[in-house]
Order: sequence, then C-alpha cells, then structure tokens
Amino acid sequence: MRRCVEPRFAPNTSTHALTASWGAPMAFYVQRGEVPRKRHTIFRQRSGELYREHLMGTLGFSGPASLLYHVHPPTRVTGTRLIGRVELQPEEDPRLRMRHFRLSDLPVGESLIVGRTPLLFNADLTISLASAKTDSEQAEFYRNAQADEIVYVSEGSGTLESEFGVLPFQAGDYLVIPRGILHRYQPASAHEHLRLLVVESAGPVTPPRRYCNERGQFLEHSPYCERDIRVPQFVPPRDEKGTFELIVKQNNVLTAIELDHHPWDVVGWDGYYYPWALSIYDFEPITGRLHQPPPVHQTFQGHGFVLCSFVPRLFDYHPEAIPAPYNHSNVMSDEVLYYANEEFMSRKGIGYGSLTLHPAGLPHGPHPGKAEDSIGKQETRELAVMVDTFRPLTVAAAATSVEDADYERSWLG
Ligand SMILES: [Fe+2]
Repeated sequence: MRRCVEPRFAPNTSTHALTASWGAPMAFYVQRGEVPRKRHTIFRQRSGELYREHLMGTLGFSGPASLLYHVHPPTRVTGTRLIGRVELQPEEDPRLRMRHFRLSDLPVGESLIVGRTPLLFNADLTISLASAKTDSEQAEFYRNAQADEIVYVSEGSGTLESEFGVLPFQAGDYLVIPRGILHRYQPASAHEHLRLLVVESAGPVTPPRRYCNERGQFLEHSPYCERDIRVPQFVPPRDEKGTFELIVKQNNVLTAIELDHHPWDVVGWDGYYYPWALSIYDFEPITGRLHQPPPVHQTFQGHGFVLCSFVPRLFDYHPEAIPAPYNHSNVMSDEVLYYANEEFMSRKGIGYGSLTLHPAGLPHGPHPGKAEDSIGKQETRELAVMVDTFRPLTVAAAATSVEDADYERSWLG
C-alpha cells in the first residue's frame, strides 16, 4: 500500500509512554515513502524479493522508534577497519577563570567527521567544531552510535542526507540527529565551507518538556511549534552494489564499516525517530517589561544541560528598565556562549565565531559600560547559542591554541 503523508500528532497513549521514558515527547508521527499496511508482514519488491524491515529503536524497544524498509539487508557488512580512538585531551592549566576562544582562527579542514576539534567536555556532552571545505565526493557516511547530536549550522548550506531522506539546511539551522542514524553532509556547492558547532549529548535531546502538553503538542507559550520543525523529504531508494564505507562512533572508537551496497536504499519508513531541523530564525523570542532570565531562551533539553538561543528581539519596555543582564552567579552551571554574529549586548571584545566559557564558581555579568549602553535601547540584533551545563566542563587542549588569554581581566575596562 502506497502512502506518503505529512506529520501528524501522536495519539495520547504513545506520548504518555514517551513522556515517561524519554523525558519529553517528540510531537510528530511521520510516514514517508512506501510501507506495508501492517508492520512485520510480507512486503515485496518488483523482483519478488522481500523488502528488509529494520526497526531503529531506543531504550530496548521502549523508547522512540521508526520502522524502515530497505532494498538490501542493512547487515551486509563486508569488512571493518579501525580508524582510531577518540581521546579527549584536557588542557594542561585547569585554573578556574573566564575563557574566550576565537574559533574562527582554527584551521579549515577537509572532514566534517574525523576532523572535528573538541572544545569542551564532561560526562554529559562534548562540544566540538567541525569546519571543513568539502565537496560531494568527500561526504562521509557517519553514524554516531553513542550520542545524540545537536548541530548548529554557523556557515554554509547543503543537504543532510540520511536513511530517512533529505533535509536541506542553511546557516542558522539546528540539526537534531538522534543516535544511530546514518547520515552525511552534502554541501550546496563544490568546496563549500561548512562550519558546524556540534553538541554530542550522552542522553536524549528533546524540546523542553514544559513547552509541550500531555499529548506532546507544543503549547501556546512555546517559542516554536510543529510548523517550525522540518523533517526529511522522501527520496526514492538507490539500489546500487559496490563498496560503501561508513564511519561509526561507538564507545569512543571510530570504526570504518564496509557495506556491499549503497546505504540509501530505503523505500519507506514511519515512526517517531528521525533527524529534524529547526532554524534559529524560527525561534520566537519572549520579551517583557523587565529583563527576562535565560530559561525564556531555552530551545532544547538534554541530560545535564540545556541549549538556548539568543535571537534578535525588542528590548525591555519598562521606562526605567536596564535591558543588559545583571551580574549573576549561576552556581550550578557552566555557561558556554557561541557568538553566531558580531553582536552581543553585554559583551566587548568578542566577534563572530567566538566561544566563551563562564564557569560556575565565578560571578559573571556585563562588561564595563554595557549596562549603561543598554538603557533606552529599543532592540538587539544579537545571535548566539548558549549551552548551560549542570556539571563542570573541561577545556580540551585543542581549544587553547585559539584562546584569548586576556579575557579573564576584560571586566576591568
Ligand atoms: Fe549568564
């Protein structure tokens, strides 16, 4: 039976189960391409061969899952090769201090997967930068089997290909790629520079629970909703024999897995588990008469961290409001900010591509003069991605090569 339908809301019973086991529901059931009317039943190709059913599920058959139908069994591995261990090297000088890294000064590589630069990490997440000029021949098939990924596209455009179809992306998009999903980045043009800020999350990544009702639907106060979420578009399966190498990350080991067929051989799928995209420009800011705290900017939740988006918005409208934030000791969280354009209302000395770490244990606040500057201003054009972690972060040695060592004294004016 042929079906190709748009996303729709989940039935109540399913979302209750998801809420209980997964923290927050993914709101959409999606079906793409061709699937049999009933699961686990005969579904044949024109040749008479069976399509090969494949459950991609989580939490031991209790979490979100999708059913995919392949032309070839996804198990046809012809060989494996060790690429290497992923070892996160901590910096040598762990003194507690304010940190600033100019990521735009990191070299541009040729691989968005094995060439990533680790920046910050703890047991819950790793933040790294993938910056490479690639073309379609260099695009690597990649499956992160140990972490969900939130990828912020800072520069460049292209298509995220996966077993689930294609998802066009451009600068400003978040790509959420749940663990286990094979994918690759196809740049829009030859030698396109893609700059991606990658958050690898040990736990599942979801929209904030408080944005959704008990059925998994986004509530009216949520800064984004179902219409803002983009899911893969269907493309017909590729039935190609040959040698295709996948890079799989599991247990901090990268392995090259060789298949004897093209992995994009899915004729249809359905379920709750798939990659999706949200543009930072579709995040609708919440503003008020007085300064709104960071939780109004929250975009995603993970285990042990939240991710927030600071987007262009009108400033506070109380006649005596100070729009810049007050000094604050967020004593239970490290604050990471990635500056996605040149502007940030409370900072000086940062630029596009800067990354700052304000660790728990040190109060932080606006740079000298910034509180005064903000009084009477109507709006900000800032664009930034913030990750607040509940456990302390370790700075990776690789990040220190582009560190602004004077940053810790930058509040002196
Ligand atoms: Fe802060």
